[in-house]
Amino acid sequence: MTVLVTGGAGYIGSHMVLELIDAGESVVVLDNLSTGFRWAVPDEVPLVVGDFGDEALVSKLIAERGISAIIHFAAKIVVPESVSDPLGYYLNNTAKARNLIACAVAGGVKNFIFSSTAAVYGEPQQNPVTESESLKPINPYGRSKWFVEMMLEDTAKATDLRYVVLRYFNVAGADPKGRTGQSTANATHLIKVAVQTALGQRAGMEVFGTDYPTPDGSCLRDYIHVTDLVRAHMDALRHLRTGGDSLTCNAGYQRGFSVLDVIKVVKDVSGRDFPVKLSGRRAGDPAAIVASNARIKSVLNWQPKHDDLPSIVRQALDWERRLHNRKLAG
Ligand code: UFG
Repeated sequence: MTVLVTGGAGYIGSHMVLELIDAGESVVVLDNLSTGFRWAVPDEVPLVVGDFGDEALVSKLIAERGISAIIHFAAKIVVPESVSDPLGYYLNNTAKARNLIACAVAGGVKNFIFSSTAAVYGEPQQNPVTESESLKPINPYGRSKWFVEMMLEDTAKATDLRYVVLRYFNVAGADPKGRTGQSTANATHLIKVAVQTALGQRAGMEVFGTDYPTPDGSCLRDYIHVTDLVRAHMDALRHLRTGGDSLTCNAGYQRGFSVLDVIKVVKDVSGRDFPVKLSGRRAGDPAAIVASNARIKSVLNWQPKHDDLPSIVRQALDWERRLHNRKLAG
């Protein structure tokens, strides 16, 4: 009954591993450490350093470790980078995921949980967006994940594999116990950038676009705490193990904050003012995207516990301080 977590040394994956071992699960991590960290994987959890697209490696792992479920996090996740390097995204996020799914099928792994993204919707016709909205991704990142959703759907029809696709909205915050957090070098995500700026690790930050059709002109997003997100995976795992059907769900709070709102909360919570430059739009950004979470609540019985932006920011700040001290300590 071992769970294979790809990308388990990364931001969301490392929170998942903690949640799984806290629940007494047996876990193996597969991570190539391109953006993840060895220290983010607890000592008692085996870490295999390698590529999730390597069929020989993954097939061996499935057989030798008795893998019964795969939670697939490993991916490239930066929207503007996907615009400048689409083929890199299609190779890593799409082509290699095909290999992983093929190994799951060949190795008899029946339960698969996939990290998809709100970016599959593109610019939704209406917010909160439901899972039945037509998918029109506006960047290669969103498309690279959509292809995997389609592969899973087709594979589930042809084989015994069943899946839960979770479409993540904007993931933020850190483990409330301070064990892990967003540690990626040169991260580009808003809350991370704002927190680093508040702590003086960056001289200032930019707001990308103030002329969007939103209340204050900056982009609107649905920020979900990473711990609530990994709990959604636990709910998904339970759903699959108890015979639930394949399923696609949004993971968000059904509440939007603008970029300017977020910066204000970071300034308030940190008690620090910092320079913010109003700049032009960034490539690939939709104006507004907020999750409908009716399905995940009703089908998976998901109950968010950290739906509070100031707490999300406080934990992100705490983690950033710890990370800084860790670096100073060498
Ligand atoms: N932003 C700034 N300044 C910054 C960083 C970000 O203004 O320094 C803005 C962006 O332009 C965007 C918003 O803050 O309007 C959020 O940007 P992020 O980079 O934090 O996140 P994205 O919305 O681009 O993407 C994230 C995930 C995707 C997911 C998407 C869903 O990376 O997986 O949220 O909304 F699909």
